[in-house]
This record gives sequence, structure tokens and C-alpha cells, in this order.
Amino acid sequence: MPQPDSVIQLRGAALSLGGNAGTVEILRGIDLTVRCGETLGLIGPSGSGKSSLLMLLGGLERATGGQVQVLGQDLTGMSEDALARFRRDHMGVVFQSFHLIPTMTALENVATPLELAGRADAFDRAAEELEQVGLGHRAGHYPSQLSGGEQQRVALARAAAPRPEILLADEPTGNLDEANGAAIMDMLFGLRDRHGATLVMVTHAPELAARCDRTVPLRDGLIAGGPA
Ligand SMILES: Nc1ncnc2c1ncn2[C@@H]1O[C@H](COP(=O)(O)OP(=O)(O)OP(=O)(O)O)[C@@H](O)[C@H]1O
Ligand SMILES: [Mg+2]
Repeated sequence: MPQPDSVIQLRGAALSLGGNAGTVEILRGIDLTVRCGETLGLIGPSGSGKSSLLMLLGGLERATGGQVQVLGQDLTGMSEDALARFRRDHMGVVFQSFHLIPTMTALENVATPLELAGRADAFDRAAEELEQVGLGHRAGHYPSQLSGGEQQRVALARAAAPRPEILLADEPTGNLDEANGAAIMDMLFGLRDRHGATLVMVTHAPELAARCDRTVPLRDGLIAGGPA
């Protein structure tokens, strides 16, 4: 049973991926509870499984063992369509490699999830979100015309625009200078403070980790120190 105020609950969650080179056990039994409105930082060395864990939470990878419950729903049993709808309705996800749609401008990228959510003011809202991340003047540019840090800010604006209950972000300040990193942090914590969002972020940045309610360290596909 999920704990009453838990938004995310993992029990023995495992992820193995097979390829030509054999099966890799990427996550080896994760027990993790995230409470409503909590800000959690996932930390740990490269290759420890941080991005993979975020993919499990976002339903973008399916656990090969254990349970992954989000908002009381078991993601492991959902169809791809149901997962996509669930993500659209409840979550924003920012990947380590942004995943912007290359044939759409920055504005169109940000407006798309708002349109999918049926918002009549999708483009106005998208323009405001881009302003917020300091990219109002680049709204008409395509991802290939933007720097890595600019693409990252577009991806954040896109994830935050529908005001998701849960925001998952992989190194959201990773490619940014101090000023832009601080602006992004303010935007992320604004989502929490103004809209009560639950944030789970992978981060190597000490300033970001310090602002999280809690950090959880991963090592070799496990939570170092046991259930968190
Ligand atoms: N599709 C895949 N097939 C096989 N192994 C994979 C796959 N994706 C990731 N891995 C392996 O799983 C492990 C965890 O990867 P993951 O990307 O989650 O690490 P990370 O903690 O996010 O690292 P980084 O800080 O470098 O981003 C790594 O050893 C990686 O090589
Ligand atoms: Mg990673």
C-alpha cells in the first residue's frame, strides 16, 4: 500500500537491459518514497543509475522487477498508451539530452504539451514560459540554432509550462552558467512553492543539491545506505 502522502513509491525496483554485449543490471532493487511537495536530489557518480532511475519514475523505462507506484498507480502494469497519457496529465520530464523536436521552433516545442492539454492560450503561455527562462527573444529559433544551455532552458520551459504535479529533471543546471543556473533553480522551486509540485532532480551541482529537501545517493544501481 502506498503511504498516504507519498507521490512516488518504489519497492525493490530493478532494471536490467539486454543488448548484444549481454544483460546489464542497471538498477538492482531500489526502495524509495517521495512525499507530496518534496524536492529530492539524486546524486552519485557517473554510471550509478541516476538517469535510469528517473526514466523508471517517468514510465519511460519499465521496471524488470519490483514495483513503481506514482500517484497511487502501478506504472509497471500500464500499457504504453496509458503511460503516455499519465505522463501528459501528471508529469513534466527534462532529459539529460533535452529531446526537443528538431522541426519545431522553441515556441512550438513549449506550446505543444499545452495544446495537447487542450489550452486555448497555449502559444501565449509558451511565450511567457520562454520569457521566464530568458529566451523570449529566441522563440522563433529551431533547436539546432540554439546552444546546449539554451536548448536545456527550452526543455525546462516545456516541462514546466503545463504546471505538472511531478517534475523530473536530469541535471537541469548542468550546462548553464551561474546566472542562468540560478534562474532555472528559481523557476523549479517556484513550481514547488507556488503550485505544490513534487520535484525529483538528478544533480551534480552542490548549490542545487543544497536547496533540495533531501538528497539520495546512488552507487552501482543501489541507494547507498539502504531504503530512502
Ligand atoms: N540501454 C542501455 N543498455 C545497457 N546499459 C545501459 C543502457 N543505458 C544505460 N546503461 C548503463 O547503465 C548504467 C547507469 O546509467 P545511467 O545513465 O543511469 O547513469 P547516470 O548515473 O545517469 O550517469 P551520468 O552521471 O554519467 O549521467 C551505466 O553503466 C550505463 O552504461
Ligand atoms: Mg545521467
